[in-house]
Amino acid sequence: MMAHMPDAFPNAVFVAHNLTKVYRMGEVEVQALRGIDLTLNRGELVVLLGPSGSGKSTLLNILGGLDAPSGGEVYYLDHKLTGASEAELTRFRREHVGFVFQFYNLIPSLTARENVAAVTEISQTPMRPEDALALVGLGNRLDHFPAQLSGGEQQRVAIARAVAKNPAVLLCDEPTGALDSATGVVVLEVLEKVNRELGTLTVLITHNVGIAGMADRVIRLSDGRIADIHENATKKPAHDLAW
Ligand SMILES: Nc1ncnc2c1ncn2[C@@H]1O[C@H](COP(=O)(O)OP(=O)(O)OP(=O)(O)O)[C@@H](O)[C@H]1O
Ligand SMILES: [Mg+2]
Repeated sequence: MMAHMPDAFPNAVFVAHNLTKVYRMGEVEVQALRGIDLTLNRGELVVLLGPSGSGKSTLLNILGGLDAPSGGEVYYLDHKLTGASEAELTRFRREHVGFVFQFYNLIPSLTARENVAAVTEISQTPMRPEDALALVGLGNRLDHFPAQLSGGEQQRVAIARAVAKNPAVLLCDEPTGALDSATGVVVLEVLEKVNRELGTLTVLITHNVGIAGMADRVIRLSDGRIADIHENATKKPAHDLAW
């Protein structure tokens, strides 16, 4: 990948300039992103809010190298992601990005420990699967299969799997979307702990405005644009959130 992160952003992990994304479906064009300028900094916890269809997942997928923008530029540290080859993007994702989605995507035939190990085996500086599962409070569920775990526990295994490779970035698309509020809070406490203890830049998409309280910064998208960026003067502990 080309090396040149703009020097003006010493704490930046991601810098995006004028990102656009157009999906073409036959005759129909959908403008999912209409010019996003954004800097995401080391160690931040960022909550991404916005109505359905406002472009949240599209933006997250572009930052994570799962999708390419139609226009504009994205840098990850000194790597330019826009224009990178598929192989380079695959390596970027594998080495630097942990993903957590609404549905946990665990492999049903593997235990919690084996689900995490499937990732750590191909990582350069992984945690031990046991340590990653202890970090999310599942040190006593190592040999359980997904079907033997609650939804919240399965999501915590998915988080352990995402963080076990020691990624610089954790991208979470509605990680509590399938969970009740009390279980969701437990999952958010895990994300808060990972962000605090490992310093992982964490981006968290949610529909729940109540979750915004735990963020350093709250970014609101509207119709493919950034409508508002708000910095929380004090962060609310995830434990105190409810929705
Ligand atoms: N693969 C795709 N092909 C065509 N259009 C798409 C595709 N993915 C997203 N879109 C469109 O792009 C727009 C933004 O979608 P996106 O998934 O980013 O929204 P979102 O903010 O994540 O919404 P939600 O809160 O419902 O998940 C929507 O109008 C959507 O229909
Ligand atoms: Mg979405």
